[in-house]
Amino acid sequence: MIIAANWKMNLTQKQAVSLINSIANNLNTKNNILIFPSFTLIETVKKLTSQKTIFVGAQDCSVNSSGAYTGEVSAEQVKDSGCNYVILGHSERRKYHNETDLQINKKAKLAIKSDLTPLICIGETLEQRKTNQTIKVIKAQLDEIYTEVDASRTIIAYEPVWAIGTGLTAKNEEIIEVHNYINDYFSGKVRILYGGSVNEQNSDEILALKNVSGVLVGGASLVAEKFIKIANFLQK
Ligand code: 13P
Repeated sequence: MIIAANWKMNLTQKQAVSLINSIANNLNTKNNILIFPSFTLIETVKKLTSQKTIFVGAQDCSVNSSGAYTGEVSAEQVKDSGCNYVILGHSERRKYHNETDLQINKKAKLAIKSDLTPLICIGETLEQRKTNQTIKVIKAQLDEIYTEVDASRTIIAYEPVWAIGTGLTAKNEEIIEVHNYINDYFSGKVRILYGGSVNEQNSDEILALKNVSGVLVGGASLVAEKFIKIANFLQK
């Protein structure tokens, strides 16, 4: 299982040190733990986890490979900072920065070229779900993002937009339907995580679902006891 923590734009150096130490000292699992801190915290998290089986990733990378793009960080720089992973296409990037599937496709190619594993986020809005467009939307996202991208070099996170930060977790049957669809789309060659209001109370049930290879956790990953409980999920 993959248990991933998206810290989003949270934590100072001091807070990150305290959180990562609590997590590292209380992990009792063979699950793969991935931490996605802000760029400024990557080195700190890397140092504290170097002896452990915790991997570090960035929350985004540039759509360009290098050059005059003030404020951007390239895939090569992410790799060079010690990361093995990068989140791409998170719904907050799509919403606040108008990121498109075409840009995510370009970023995924650059990430793979830099030997990073992209964790690619897809998912429908509430409006799209209500109007029965979920599978259509997922298909359109996959078609564009995965043009000339080797899916087996990536991980997918199914994160329904309406479930992120809202406390509304998707129902088991909703998760199963979309995960089955994605699994079939790639003939079983890709790992699929669920994200959206995952917490220490619902994680075991979600992790036990068919075609769920792990979870991507936001809010609950900032609280050591909650994240440890989620991360220590028994191996299947
Ligand atoms: P929450 O777990 O806070 O809903 O966030 C999910 C998320 O966006 C992970 O990338």
